[in-house]
Amino acid sequence: MYSFALSAAALLASTLLPTALAQTHTACNPLNTTGCPDMAALGGNSTFDFTKDWNPDVWVQMNQGSVEHIDNHTDFIVQFQGDSPTVLSSFYIFFGRVEIVMKAAPGQGIVSSAILQSECLDEIDWEFLGTNTTHALTNYFGKGNTTDYTRGKDFRMKSAPQDDYHNYTIDWTKERIQWYIDDEMVRELKYADALGGKNYPQTPMNVRLGAWSGGDVDNNNKYTVEWAGGPTDFKKAPFTMSVQTVYVQDYTTAKEYNWDDMDASGDWQKVGVVKLADNEKSATLQEIEKPHGVKNRWGALSQTAKIAIIASIAGVVAIIAAVILFCCIKQRRAGRREYAAYQANLDKEATDLIQHKEQWQSSHAASRSSRYARI
Ligand SMILES: *[C@@H]1O[C@H](CO)[C@@H](O)[C@H](O)[C@H]1NC(C)=O
Ligand SMILES: *[C@@H]1O[C@H](CO)[C@@H](O)[C@H](O)[C@H]1NC(C)=O
Ligand SMILES: *[C@@H]1O[C@H](CO)[C@@H](O)[C@H](O)[C@H]1NC(C)=O
Ligand SMILES: *[C@@H]1O[C@H](CO)[C@@H](O)[C@H](O)[C@H]1NC(C)=O
Ligand SMILES: *[C@@H]1O[C@H](CO)[C@@H](O)[C@H](O)[C@H]1NC(C)=O
Ligand SMILES: *[C@@H]1O[C@H](CO)[C@@H](O)[C@H](O)[C@H]1NC(C)=O
Repeated sequence: MYSFALSAAALLASTLLPTALAQTHTACNPLNTTGCPDMAALGGNSTFDFTKDWNPDVWVQMNQGSVEHIDNHTDFIVQFQGDSPTVLSSFYIFFGRVEIVMKAAPGQGIVSSAILQSECLDEIDWEFLGTNTTHALTNYFGKGNTTDYTRGKDFRMKSAPQDDYHNYTIDWTKERIQWYIDDEMVRELKYADALGGKNYPQTPMNVRLGAWSGGDVDNNNKYTVEWAGGPTDFKKAPFTMSVQTVYVQDYTTAKEYNWDDMDASGDWQKVGVVKLADNEKSATLQEIEKPHGVKNRWGALSQTAKIAIIASIAGVVAIIAAVILFCCIKQRRAGRREYAAYQANLDKEATDLIQHKEQWQSSHAASRSSRYARI
């Protein structure tokens, strides 16, 4: 998504700036590095329901800024300078389809993105500018080549992308890429039309959703700020992009993709595909289908497991009861001992008192009797 801003910045400045200014980032670029990590494949299809929270093992949160599940949507919130709340899928697709139902963030300088990107910087984009209420942007890159800035194309919306949820779809095969807004196909790119395929996205990509501030004047050059619609006023924050659902389909039924045979060409034929066996599910699909949350996990248990759990809980309760009982008895015994000691003490004191009294009485009686005797 960063590359889009840079390319657009360069579009504005194409006559002014050296093309080398544009850069994108990847942790391990398989076009010039060996041993880049294997990639988990989706290897099937799944609807990710962001109206009901999301699985952080499948959608990994990145960068500063908050991603929050609120009511029936998940929000990407730009609140402070430097925020660019993002999630990216832990799985990859090797050609496929992505349908994103989302609402773009408003706000000058704020960019909302829903993109596919590979480790060798192939990229297919949807982007939305906070103050552009009439157009959605599409773009693509092959192998991080940003030296040509005519790939971006804008499309008129029937209603503001910031006001309503819309379905933004990318359908990507090795022959062509199609972009749809709701039910309408707005763009198609054929393999040959991307510099004879050289600039055509064709390596496994993951899905990245997020919002960021292209209008952050302290962290972007003036062309990026201009492209993004002007400087961001963080006093007007928060700027929120909301996502409801994401459907992803991997057109390859793989469990894993790798770069073992990749070279500088970035050709799709050189992507390693570890196929799934018949009826086998990718680890990603298994993780996705695994129930999450206490209620769901309980519902998914077998009757035997439920009985075992109830029995063990009952066992624990019994143990706790026994412990309490033991303590009470001990307590009562100790109490009884203390009471007995107390009683004994009282008895002793009473005895002493009686004795004392008797002594006193007898001495008195003696003196009285002696007195009386005298009288
Ligand atoms: C690989 O290419 C990228 C992008 O051109 C570059 O940034 C990186 O330094 C290169 N890495 C190596 C190991 O050559
Ligand atoms: C999605 O996958 C399921 C099986 O996991 C299959 O039944 C269904 O037809 C697939 N949907 C599409 C659109 O391919
Ligand atoms: C989300 O909630 C709003 C208001 O509570 C409701 O109008 C809308 O239909 C809901 N959408 C979905 C997809 O559940
Ligand atoms: C929105 O984008 C379109 C296409 O780039 C452009 O013609 C229009 O002027 C933009 N509107 C605003 C308000 O920036
Ligand atoms: C990058 O793309 C431009 C225009 O699309 C092209 O002229 C150039 O040769 C490409 N660079 C490489 C290294 O393929
Ligand atoms: C999104 O739009 C595409 C293209 O029109 C359509 O095939 C798909 O069913 C829609 N998906 C959702 C979730 O609305």
